[in-house]
Amino acid sequence: MQLLKTIKEVRDAVAAARRQGKIIGLVPTMGALHAGHGSLIQKARADCSFVVVSIFVNPTQFGPTEDFNKYPRTLDTDTRLCESLGVDCIFAPLAEEMYPQRNLTWVDVEQMTKGLCGASRPGHFQGVATVCAKLFHIVQPDRVYFGQKDAQQAAVICRMVTDLNFPMEIIVCPTVRERDGLAMSSRNRYLSSEQRKQAVCLYQALCGCRKMVEQGIISTSQLIAQINQVITTAGVQVEYISIVDAQTLQPMTSLTADALVALACRVGTTRLIDNMLIFLNPPRFQI
Ligand code: PAF
Repeated sequence: MQLLKTIKEVRDAVAAARRQGKIIGLVPTMGALHAGHGSLIQKARADCSFVVVSIFVNPTQFGPTEDFNKYPRTLDTDTRLCESLGVDCIFAPLAEEMYPQRNLTWVDVEQMTKGLCGASRPGHFQGVATVCAKLFHIVQPDRVYFGQKDAQQAAVICRMVTDLNFPMEIIVCPTVRERDGLAMSSRNRYLSSEQRKQAVCLYQALCGCRKMVEQGIISTSQLIAQINQVITTAGVQVEYISIVDAQTLQPMTSLTADALVALACRVGTTRLIDNMLIFLNPPRFQI
């Protein structure tokens, strides 16, 4: 496995793989890899003949009061995990490599980035879309792997790739959960043991919502009220709970199309997100 730091090195490695007729898979990450990333890498490994994992804590997607400085940086353990999963190449650039001068060019996916996490994280999705566009131009993968856990991010990137004709396929893989249902996240390591127990209420609230839908409830305000009650009863602070169209991310008043139930909460000072997809035809849930 190669550990590459410069754009030229990764371009050369990918070009050599292409000359051998290989299919290129990219798993974009910010490092602090966990089993959720592991599942994306495994899927890429199964689908592609050359797998690149990018590890870059992207400064442009963090707000001024967010956790950019304290975001975990664990390159040595990340490298070992990638090696054990058969990754061909890690691309771990420094910020100066990705942003050698002040960026004047941004990718802005309108509408879909205003609500949900976008409401409390202005500029976040602009930073995500821009760095992903840069990574896609640098690596030029055939397939790129994202997790459903970051549902809004996945929907925004799918739209960017369609709108801007990026010649690649985006594959969105199911959320990987701890045994009690908590969605895997690099930020879970910020939780104290008491907060870790509380945090499971996000998953429990989504499961309760699934039960209500199974019982025939389609009013989104009723479903949101129930989710809110489960989470606040556990002593966790709700930032938002929304039920939106799964493609457009626009709010829905009743479940009349495939829907995304998305929520963000604060457990102590740690911001956690989770979500569930509801498909209508045939009826199915992805949680
Ligand atoms: O999901 C992440 O880790 C990041 O938002 C991404 C996609 C790597 C862009 O920095």
